[in-house]
Amino acid sequence: MRLLSLRLIISLIVGITLVSLAFSYQQVLREKRSLRSDLERRAEVVGESVAENVEKELETGSDAGLRRLVNSLGNREHLLGVAVYDRQGTALAITPSLAQTLQVAPSQVNGAMAENREQSSFLTLNRNRVHIIALPLHWGEATVGGLVLVHDVEYIRAQNLRTWRQAFLGILVQVVLIVLITLLIVRWSIAGPIARAAQWMRALRMGRISSPQQMPDLDLFKPLAWEVVTFAESLNQARSAAENEARLREAGESSWTADRLAVQIQARLDGSRLFVVSNREPYIHQRSGKTIEVNVPASGLVTALEPVLNACDGTWIAHGSGDADTEVVDSHDRLRVPPNDPRYTLRRVWLSKEEEEGYYYGFSNEGLWPLCHIAHTRPIFREKDFQLYQEVNRRFAAAVLEEIANTKKPIVLVQDYHFALLPRLIKEKRPDARVAIFWHIPWPNPESFGICPWQRQLVEGLLGADLIGFHIQSHCNNFLQTVDRVVESRIDGEHFAVQRQNHRTIVRPFPISVNLTDDDAVEAGEYGARYQERSALMHNLGVESAYLGVGVDRVDYTKGIHERFRAIERFLEKYPKYQALFTFVQIGAPSRTHIKRYHDLLAELEAEAERINWRFQSGKWKPILFLKRQHSHEEIDAYYRAADLCLVTSLHDGMNLVAKEFLAARKDERGVLILSQFTGAARELRDALLVNPYDIDKTAEAIRAALEMEPEEKQMRVHRMRKIIRENNIYRWAGNLVTELCELRIDTGEKSKSRTRGSPTAA
Ligand code: G6P
Repeated sequence: MRLLSLRLIISLIVGITLVSLAFSYQQVLREKRSLRSDLERRAEVVGESVAENVEKELETGSDAGLRRLVNSLGNREHLLGVAVYDRQGTALAITPSLAQTLQVAPSQVNGAMAENREQSSFLTLNRNRVHIIALPLHWGEATVGGLVLVHDVEYIRAQNLRTWRQAFLGILVQVVLIVLITLLIVRWSIAGPIARAAQWMRALRMGRISSPQQMPDLDLFKPLAWEVVTFAESLNQARSAAENEARLREAGESSWTADRLAVQIQARLDGSRLFVVSNREPYIHQRSGKTIEVNVPASGLVTALEPVLNACDGTWIAHGSGDADTEVVDSHDRLRVPPNDPRYTLRRVWLSKEEEEGYYYGFSNEGLWPLCHIAHTRPIFREKDFQLYQEVNRRFAAAVLEEIANTKKPIVLVQDYHFALLPRLIKEKRPDARVAIFWHIPWPNPESFGICPWQRQLVEGLLGADLIGFHIQSHCNNFLQTVDRVVESRIDGEHFAVQRQNHRTIVRPFPISVNLTDDDAVEAGEYGARYQERSALMHNLGVESAYLGVGVDRVDYTKGIHERFRAIERFLEKYPKYQALFTFVQIGAPSRTHIKRYHDLLAELEAEAERINWRFQSGKWKPILFLKRQHSHEEIDAYYRAADLCLVTSLHDGMNLVAKEFLAARKDERGVLILSQFTGAARELRDALLVNPYDIDKTAEAIRAALEMEPEEKQMRVHRMRKIIRENNIYRWAGNLVTELCELRIDTGEKSKSRTRGSPTAA
């Protein structure tokens, strides 16, 4: 740093001095020129008036008068003297001080007489710099001689020297000031932040800072600092992945992490590329005043699929639903994401209002959603909605085909009930593609599914896939039975596969999960800290209560929120000692409110909570707090950690990730999960208190049992369930799905043709 400052100072001194010298030189030149031309002008004026007087003396012929006049003109305002010559150049009169030097007429006198006009020049006389002006003298019209005036020019040199001296002083002051100011700026704005950044980076490198976000104030270097933060985060991740790997090797275990998933997928892809299709996009660009904000939807799907895409630089094709989405894509409707660390491509597909209405709200959410969830809300099937569903599936197929055009044997993962027709549309055009669809919601029994007027088209569309995934085996079974009833095919019950028109589709369960890895070490249950966290939460909500229950859902009629509220009412009725002691917080994210059923449900639930509160509330206590808004992961985690119990009472649910998220948040191994037996999660989480949500009384009993359970039992149950989730986490879900798809032997058109010609290749 010191060397840097020295170099900086020397450069500044040399630079400023050279520039100032150049300017001063110009100034001196200008000044010299102006003084000289002043002198010339003055000499001319004085010369003309002297010439007039000399001519008069010549006319009178008085030598004495001429000498008097000449002598009187010496040493006046830089005038050294004058000399008068006749036509032949013989001196007639000379100021005494110049008598020696000007005895012989200087050449300028002859020039002036010859040209009949004054001659002026600067020259050295007796080693002095002087100015000479020679003028012709007249008698009437005739030139009779010449006059010379000599001026001293030493004063111009003196003036120039003074100017140089001042300039040097000025340069000196400037250099000192500029160097001082520059050094101060460097110290405050550059050296200081650099020193702080270096110290912070050293601490990061040595692992003394856990969160790179705790960055010091780096002033001018903010943009650079954010890059360093990203870099540091990657470093931290790499470090913890390495530690984790070492731990695993040590323990001889095999746990799934994002890094292991990355390695696995890269190996499986074997040079091919991965394409994901979903309705919801992972990044939504929205206008907020004059700026554009990027939002990540709170979706389990995004958490699950992003590590896969990050690992292999694939392409995610989704509906561009943000109001600023069109502004950030290129001419092919693509952009690189995540925005801060681009690792894969997002391709957006645009839908008109009408298409969104028919395909998303209509057929997907008013038709298929209630059809697949047995929750006693009638599906609505409109011809127009199905037409738009087909239309949008075709639109997405076109986008997928465009994206995979240059990829041999691409891997395509289609997500969910919005795209039942897509697998077939893709495979018809690209039989070499490996296509899987994961159905995130339940598949009902064939009788229930049979009420859909377009069940055959849906099943045929799905059977275009090489692999169909559901959360649990019973959904697979329901699907195979539906296939059996709806289309002509051969069901291979042993391998859970469907053989139809030379194409084989495998049907498998892949239970989706959450991000719980070995990094989530158990934290000793510190009761004091937990109690404080809960008190702060309750204080913010303005209630006082000893026990806390929590529920987290999209406000959806399949979630059994009505039944849950009634179970709480029954519990307080049956066990009045818990009145004023137990509060239930229901976090309800409004969802699909454009659909009347969802819109009404919000109001119905609010009225129900109000009714129960009115019945029991006293003082600052209320039994139910219904928080109707989207909450961040951090906010929800705080409730999970503070709660004594979590209620999941879905009437029907493919998996239900809330149950798993609650357990993932309980690093203290406390809390009780009350879980509907109609969720996919209930197959894995056998240590939850399983309930039939329609049985209000039994659910009320479960609440009591949860509150009164011995701490050791709570701990044992949570411990066992966390172990199951850790072993079957989200990375394993993604890894298994991609691995299964990549290992399938698929039938391309080529192979089928050769087989019909008698090739021995087996299917
Ligand atoms: C639930 C389902 C998912 C589905 C999602 C759609 O989470 O389990 O299968 O993709 O809802 O939600 P959205 O808000 O996009 O309609």
